[in-house]
Amino acid sequence: MTSFTINGRAVTTDVEDDTPLLWVIRDHIGLTGTKFGCGIGMCGACTVHVGGRATRSCITPLASVEGAAITTIEGLDPAANHPLQQAWRALQVPQCGYCQSGQIMQAAAMLQDFPAPSDDEIDAVMTGSLCRCMTYVRIRAAIKQAAA
Ligand code: FES
Repeated sequence: MTSFTINGRAVTTDVEDDTPLLWVIRDHIGLTGTKFGCGIGMCGACTVHVGGRATRSCITPLASVEGAAITTIEGLDPAANHPLQQAWRALQVPQCGYCQSGQIMQAAAMLQDFPAPSDDEIDAVMTGSLCRCMTYVRIRAAIKQAAA
């Protein structure tokens, strides 16, 4: 049994301890905003917050989140109006959209450490979050708008 909170809701599950958190979130809890991309921690599509830190859920075993507070894209803001989400919409960042929940979750964690990030700081943190549509310029602009 593993217990944690997700978006403020207490959850206890009897899923096997080594199950990747990503599949618990998607298949057992039913929150599908967190995406599967590579499954090996290389693309960032599966990024959620565990204890406020950006975490790749595809390589996070369920047992490691015992007692943790997890936030997914669905819980970042109840009305989907986090400043990053507002900026994402205003600047029409997504193209296909698949990676964007992971991008926003990575960016949200970054803004806690760098409330007014420079281009270099954005690039250093966001470089591991891959986008096949190459929306990187708009992602950087939206982060800067959200931080302003
Ligand atoms: Fe987790 Fe790619 S799916 S990093």
